[in-house]
Amino acid sequence: MKQLLIVANWKSNKTLQEASIFIEKFQVVYEPREDAKVIICPPFISVELMSRLVRNDAIAAEIGVQNISPFEDGAYTGEVSAHQAAEFAKFAIIGHSERRTNFGEDDDLLSKKVSIATSFGLIPIFCVQNENTFIPDGVKVVAYEPPSAIGTGQADTPESAEHVALIIKEKHGEVAQVLYGGSVVPENVSGFTKMEHISGVLIGGASLDPDRFSSIIKQC
Ligand code: PGA
Repeated sequence: MKQLLIVANWKSNKTLQEASIFIEKFQVVYEPREDAKVIICPPFISVELMSRLVRNDAIAAEIGVQNISPFEDGAYTGEVSAHQAAEFAKFAIIGHSERRTNFGEDDDLLSKKVSIATSFGLIPIFCVQNENTFIPDGVKVVAYEPPSAIGTGQADTPESAEHVALIIKEKHGEVAQVLYGGSVVPENVSGFTKMEHISGVLIGGASLDPDRFSSIIKQC
């Protein structure tokens, strides 16, 4: 049985209060599945709260972060280190196209982030924009997210995503799981997850609503 990863990327959304309300509603509608691991990646400010709520309410979900400092603990104003994040999170999204575009993150910086994340036991979910995007050593989970599909409602086709996933796996023997991301909604998720080489989805907009997110989990 294929083990799916269903990853919510909340980006810069939700206050602490809104995050609590999400969890209250989500736990009513969420039906955990043996073949799917649910990972919620809130903004840093909500990571501690979300990890506590998930644990206290015994919700079958893991916590991830959306980014990580390339440095260890120390004099790096404004950064959150992998050491700090690993207190609460198991996963770290690294190399999202929004970080590459808005914050100038390049291959060299992203390699440092992967290396420091793995050294503190965080599993990188490394985002690539196409089959030729550089993937640093140590990456086992990749999320293929074509920028034209992010937040546009114009998802890639499952066939095209499957083709890219297969090429990525052929080129990088270490990569065990390739996820698809970009305008995933309840109505299209199963098209992706039924593909042989796609092991889950990374969801932005549709993960913010507890009903839509739980419906994605049900449909995948
Ligand atoms: P979207 O975002 O689902 O809103 O398209 C996906 C992502 O950027 O991870």
